[in-house]
Amino acid sequence: MSELQIKLYYKNVTSEVIGPEHGITADQLKQLAEKTSPLISQLNKERKNGRTPYRDLPFNKEISRKVKELVAELKDRCENLVVLGIGGSALGNIALQTALNPYMYNLDHTQRVGPRLFVFDNIDPPQLASFLKWLEDNDRLKKTIFNVISKSGQAAETMSQFMIVRQLLLDKLGHDACTKQVITTTDANQGILREIADNAGFRSLEVPEGVGGRFSVLSAVGLFSAAMCGIDIDSLLAGAWDMDDRVSCQDFYKNPAAINAAVNYHFYNRGKKISVMMPYSYALRDLADWYRQLWAESLGKAKDLTGDDVHIGPTPVKALGATDQHSQVQLYREGPNDKLFTFLQVNNFDKDLKIGSAPDGAPELGFLAGKDLSTLFNNEKRATEYAILQSKRPCLTVFFDKVNAYTVGQFIYLYEVTTSFAGALFGINPYDQPAVELGKEATFALMGKPGDEYEKLAQQIQSLTEIDGDFLV
Ligand code: PA5
Repeated sequence: MSELQIKLYYKNVTSEVIGPEHGITADQLKQLAEKTSPLISQLNKERKNGRTPYRDLPFNKEISRKVKELVAELKDRCENLVVLGIGGSALGNIALQTALNPYMYNLDHTQRVGPRLFVFDNIDPPQLASFLKWLEDNDRLKKTIFNVISKSGQAAETMSQFMIVRQLLLDKLGHDACTKQVITTTDANQGILREIADNAGFRSLEVPEGVGGRFSVLSAVGLFSAAMCGIDIDSLLAGAWDMDDRVSCQDFYKNPAAINAAVNYHFYNRGKKISVMMPYSYALRDLADWYRQLWAESLGKAKDLTGDDVHIGPTPVKALGATDQHSQVQLYREGPNDKLFTFLQVNNFDKDLKIGSAPDGAPELGFLAGKDLSTLFNNEKRATEYAILQSKRPCLTVFFDKVNAYTVGQFIYLYEVTTSFAGALFGINPYDQPAVELGKEATFALMGKPGDEYEKLAQQIQSLTEIDGDFLV
């Protein structure tokens, strides 16, 4: 399988390529190795002591057994699978589906082996209303399973979606159908959703203890929808398993997560605080979205581990090649030199197309005629990289020989562990998200959740956010 190992290429961040003002010199790389190497043993130790349970997910046979059991039970009577969740409870599902199933999966039944998949990670009323209308028409509701995913069981967005869907099922199909058609994925022991599931007798999967949403894609959170839709979850986990060896390696220069994190850390400290991930592959597009959340929520922190104010965190940005060459690259080359670029490149696409012959009277297009579309795609990546390097901006590339479950499993695990390394280098806790909580609490207060503290908060919000007509133009 080694030709299917994804590879991180880092020469184009060095001074050899982009000069000493912007590139990493040999000395600086040595210093990064010295700083990062002890963190390899530190993270390995933390993992052994059970402090990073996300790292054990690829090895947990029990999770995939339970997932497969439920898939076997539900698959035949499910034409539509609807995931209700937000943040880490949704982005992994979306990323796996885009990466590993065909573009027309939902629309063309000859291109799918499982149900259509819809992931609702928002509460936009017209969007959900339009979807529910489509489900209600032509009896589709009967053959639809709703997977409500929430670790805390109290995200207002997910719980509202759930209550809308539950009401619809009760009104249209009755109590038994509701019990059969709703499944939940939540904490094994705590939270309102767990309580609801147990009381209502919903089938249920677990978000493992100590695994935060954004690190949970390789648990039942991401595996269930993937397996329902025909994705080979064993290969996905095997990819993560194999990457585990590589990211545990004590030799900095052989450890892609350690190098990736060290390079990101270096540039952040030298004014390149924006980290752009730019896949040249539609399939990998939503993995960049998944990364954006992983990176932002894990590394954007006010305090370091000693409690000092640091207000640290690289800003992750998602771009798509070649689309964004015609949207962002002007800025990337001539705007501030404040970004590190990470391209994702696929060497062998699953399907390819030949470009047709040039129309009569358009010999100017002859140079494209007869070439593979993949050749154009990958040359555009090289051309963009060349142009960005000419502007002395650092670029990493993650090479995929192919996009399949095995390589995607590697990528997910690589970036999860890279995040742990980056957290250790920045000296912050990458596993919490205290700043997200205030917004959640404020929403509860504005929606009238009972309790003195919510009442007080609602008043504070009211006075701070009341519209002042003098400033409306
Ligand atoms: O990564 C995280 O922890 C968050 O993005 C959560 O996944 C998100 O806030 C949703 O929370 P929950 O799964 O509790 O509904």
